Amino acid sequence: MNYRDTLKPNKKGELMIGGLSASELASTYGTPLYVMDVAHIRAICKAFKDTIETVYGGYGGVAFASKAFSTKAIYTIMKNMDMDIDVVSGGEIFTALSAGFDLSRAYFHGNNKLLSELEYATDNNIGVIVIDNIEEIALLNEICRKKGQVQKVNIRTNPGVEAHTHSYIQTAKIDSKFGFSISTGDAIEAIDNILNATNLKLNGVNCHIGSQIFDSNAFRLAVDVMTDFIVDIKVKHKLDIEELNMGGGFGVHYTNDDPKYSVEDYCNNIRIIASAINDAIDSKGIKKPRLMVEPGRSIVGEAGITLYTVGNIKDIKGIKKYICIDGGMFDNIRPALYQADYEAVIATNCNAKTVEDVAIAGKCCESGDIIIDKIAMPICTRGDLIAIMTTGAYNYSMASNYNRNAIPPVIMVENGKSGYCVKPQTYEDIASRDTVPDFLD
Ligand SMILES: Cc1ncc(COP(=O)(O)O)c(C=O)c1O
Repeated sequence: MNYRDTLKPNKKGELMIGGLSASELASTYGTPLYVMDVAHIRAICKAFKDTIETVYGGYGGVAFASKAFSTKAIYTIMKNMDMDIDVVSGGEIFTALSAGFDLSRAYFHGNNKLLSELEYATDNNIGVIVIDNIEEIALLNEICRKKGQVQKVNIRTNPGVEAHTHSYIQTAKIDSKFGFSISTGDAIEAIDNILNATNLKLNGVNCHIGSQIFDSNAFRLAVDVMTDFIVDIKVKHKLDIEELNMGGGFGVHYTNDDPKYSVEDYCNNIRIIASAINDAIDSKGIKKPRLMVEPGRSIVGEAGITLYTVGNIKDIKGIKKYICIDGGMFDNIRPALYQADYEAVIATNCNAKTVEDVAIAGKCCESGDIIIDKIAMPICTRGDLIAIMTTGAYNYSMASNYNRNAIPPVIMVENGKSGYCVKPQTYEDIASRDTVPDFLD
């Protein structure tokens, strides 16, 4: 467990989040319940921004990848923390605008942005559209020409560096649905097309080499490829690239197999990226680009905790014991989707001695609805409050109404205060958009 000041057990062993006990929160709001520790989110945003200030002269910024957790409240926090954001759909743009977020601070990503989404984004003066496909160049140029607008664009490249949790590989792998491969020449061709487009203005180049990355060498290598690309553009077009966006992907602690980072440790990747760019500026003779990073998971991941109540226990003697909880894949699809791992504690007694291996099972009608397949736990009984850690990123944002379960509410906590960030869903809400076609009657 990666405890911190705003997330740790008190003297009685009870889990405290943002100055409130998990059991108090559960009795006020019910379970399942997503809890977001706002102080942690703010601390990470501040530390990331301060790092760019100290190691890169403040020439750049941090865009929160809001796909990790998109709600009005998080955009409000980002606005107050003077952050940029990355959005990937009309829905995220709408939510950000509803929170009063200034869309000129937004980067719009996506491998197949809809015409309607491009119209919506440009109507609302989005800051940068990150071109991800050759057809998008003409499509967006035409939209902007009709409106008499000039749109700032970046291009998403594929630098051929693929990073995964604890390792990376450099490949010529070009089968990703995202971005323009640099090695095949697709990226430079996209640059040519953008420079010929009357209503697009090239602002920068992007990459995003993966997620949950702990091996910083992957970022060093990616900077090397990206700055070589910037040199290529300079040679071919006599043009200095203004912005280099290195994406997100910084790893967070899910289980004991992962490092336990402090807020300061989290900034190491930015330090490494910045120093690699500084080296390249000298050795490759490029103009200092503005440095953007785009982290999602590392800003909200560890800030999130999900609270569940234990229901049935199924003990298949000598084989497996299931602790069944009142949530499941409808609030956390990640284990079923890509075998994501988690840690759990009994929230009222975090220090209880673990005595047996169990599985923590969701309530959905899918055998694969297992939140943790094997974890050492104390004896759990009906009514116990379980906390699953590091559920702030890609949990609520991927929630569904599978089996017509209600998506749990999200609350935010800070300095002993709590409040809804997403209100509870009722059964009426779930069925509210259903209709029965006339011909069925
Ligand atoms: C283009 C881009 N930027 C940023 C991110 C955020 O990544 P992470 O949440 O791992 O920091 C993603 C995640 O998929 C992405 O695709």
